[in-house]
Amino acid sequence: MEQYTLAIQDIRNETDDTITICFKQPGLRKMKYQAGQYMTLIFKINGRRYSRPYSFSSAPSVDSTLDVTVKRVPKGIVSNYILNEIKVGDVVEVVGPTGDFIYLPVNVNPRIYLWGVGSGITPLFSLAKEILSSQPSAKIHLVYGNKYKVSTIFLEKILELQKKYKSEFNVTLFFSQELSLDEKDGFYGRISSSFVSDLVSNNSEGEESQHYICGPKGLKEAVKNSLLELSISESAIYSEEFQILIDPKELDGVKDSMINFYFNGDQVKIFGPKGKSVLNSALDHNLEIPYSCQTGICNSCKATVVKGNLKMIGLSQERKDLNTDEFLLCCSYPITNELVIKVN
Ligand SMILES: Cc1cc2nc3c(=O)[nH]c(=O)nc-3n(C[C@H](O)[C@H](O)[C@H](O)COP(=O)(O)OP(=O)(O)OC[C@H]3O[C@@H](n4cnc5c(N)ncnc54)[C@H](O)[C@@H]3O)c2cc1C
Ligand code: FES
Repeated sequence: MEQYTLAIQDIRNETDDTITICFKQPGLRKMKYQAGQYMTLIFKINGRRYSRPYSFSSAPSVDSTLDVTVKRVPKGIVSNYILNEIKVGDVVEVVGPTGDFIYLPVNVNPRIYLWGVGSGITPLFSLAKEILSSQPSAKIHLVYGNKYKVSTIFLEKILELQKKYKSEFNVTLFFSQELSLDEKDGFYGRISSSFVSDLVSNNSEGEESQHYICGPKGLKEAVKNSLLELSISESAIYSEEFQILIDPKELDGVKDSMINFYFNGDQVKIFGPKGKSVLNSALDHNLEIPYSCQTGICNSCKATVVKGNLKMIGLSQERKDLNTDEFLLCCSYPITNELVIKVN
């Protein structure tokens, strides 16, 4: 992964709690990315280094700037810092691009469904813009859920895109708390399994379809299960999650642990309290272990356990590629009171 220092060219307000930061492409070494990928923004806040991934909301064939769109998370350290502190002209250290939530052309008449809620629209918006501008034979269905019209990120821009690509881009909006909703503006409620089945079966036209889901686990499971019931192949369903919620039951067997790290030629011993990921325990002690996604997808925090054992919890996807002594520290919790870990 490459590192860049990017200057902020523009900041746009999207909704009350969401902004888009437009970074200027570097003059010499331009960042080459694909729609649907993300980059990791790094900030020093109160003396500690924080890394957070943000999906591109720009599309490489359409936008000249590198845009990310950030929604404020209540009490969130980095999102609040971004919304409160950053300004045009600031420079930000970033790493990337990363991610395989990308468009893979599989047939001449692509039939693409984008399923998202809330800030999950960012990579979907990037994909929609990119595919519409570069694949004239593509048909895209965007199904997008929000609480209110006013909290819907990119609402105007999506409707403009729909006007521009009338026969290629079909948009269905859901609003879970918009009581006075005009029928033509969307549906009241959440994206339901029956809606997923009806939409896909009524528009299949005999073509294989590809599905991109971005939102919380509940949305991913509802959409994915309905698609599998329609015999859509699992390999045609891609998903991205912004946050992993852990079921407390999964923490059974997790222990307090003394953790010995071998990192950057140093040996450091720290206390890892029960219930905290090894990555977070290390960061609390200012050990600057590399990390980005914190959902078990990017591999930045991969390490080897030399003594003791860990339990991986909350991975957003199964990881059969890891050796038995390899762990992703962002999703790893000690199950022995002593651990020796070598950070690669
Ligand atoms: C691949 C990927 C792409 C992402 N792209 C985007 C994007 O385009 N736009 C965007 O706004 N965010 C995106 N995120 C989420 C982003 O990286 C941060 O996790 C988010 O901004 C919160 O960081 P924070 O430091 O403010 O909160 P933290 O200080 O890390 O967390 C504070 C509290 O908020 C909870 N929390 C953390 N993240 C979320 C969340 N997303 N929603 C609700 N609660 C949360 C935590 O569990 C914790 O309790 C993406 C995440 C991933 C993994
Ligand atoms: S930070 Fe991405 S896998 Fe751990």
